[in-house]
Amino acid sequence: MEGSLRGRDMITTQEWSGEEIQAILDTARDLKRKREVGEPHAYLRDKVISLLFFFTSTRTRNSFEAGMAQLGGHAQFIDSTTTQISHGDTAKEIGEILGRYNDAIGIRRCDWGLGNRYIRDVAAASRVPVFNMQCDMYHPFQILADLLTIIERKGDPRGLTINVSYAYATSYQKPLSVPQSLILLMTRFGMNVRLTHPPEFRLIPEIVEQARENARQHDGSFEILDDFDAGFENADIVYPKSWGCMLRTTDHGESAKISQRYSDWIADDHRMTLAKKDAIYMHCLPADRNIEVTDSVIDGPNSVVYQQAENRLHVQKAVMVLTM
Ligand code: CP
Repeated sequence: MEGSLRGRDMITTQEWSGEEIQAILDTARDLKRKREVGEPHAYLRDKVISLLFFFTSTRTRNSFEAGMAQLGGHAQFIDSTTTQISHGDTAKEIGEILGRYNDAIGIRRCDWGLGNRYIRDVAAASRVPVFNMQCDMYHPFQILADLLTIIERKGDPRGLTINVSYAYATSYQKPLSVPQSLILLMTRFGMNVRLTHPPEFRLIPEIVEQARENARQHDGSFEILDDFDAGFENADIVYPKSWGCMLRTTDHGESAKISQRYSDWIADDHRMTLAKKDAIYMHCLPADRNIEVTDSVIDGPNSVVYQQAENRLHVQKAVMVLTM
């Protein structure tokens, strides 16, 4: 690989080359092994990362904090509501100032039409790497963990069929960041990517076009289906999860009404029989249990959700080690 990754932002995997993503996966595997055998790996002693959250989190916060401690550094959790951001601190000021105190800045901001722009504005003003801990468009660390999980479970991902599907949920309008990031990354690894959703739940057209182009360049395929059952058929990997219909409406009441038309889009035992016998069921969590997916599927033998959650720790440590 040409050059060092020191100082690089991670906002979307689309801005990292295939070779660089491979370096993340290799480093993550090495760090995972070191943790398993109890080998110290304090590569970031005296380094500090600031984790700025505008939205709730279980996995992202815990895995970044634990990962940084295991690397010998410190992570400071910042709930945006405890800051002066609502009283005027701008994105530029956050980048300039937090960048002078810390060695990296992680940000989660999922507000539709705002999150990605905010993270990029902070990054433009920051002298240290900025990590996207989920925005309205991308969730890069989730899908890096997902790719590592697929490789651990299935080996070489080339030629595997993955069904990235909408599923019904009632909890809230979930961001488009996971399905968009999945179709962008998996098409770069020679996979046959199916995107399955009702017509109202389209993804951002420019991102869909990028995924199509990725598939063309990397000997994969990309298709869009609107039939929940057809998406499962003969798939090696099924990833049915809810997202919002933001491109249609940002009104919560109207979006809830639209979603109700698809209340039968639930990953259940019957749907799993349509996929390959050894297909894996994936979900980034949290899931709406028995609405989005039945207990029998998410807790069943094909589910790899806890391995996915664990791998968040290892890929995030890898990116921190390579960039900070
Ligand atoms: N998957 C994921 O990002 O989980 P959290 O929202 O709990 O961080």
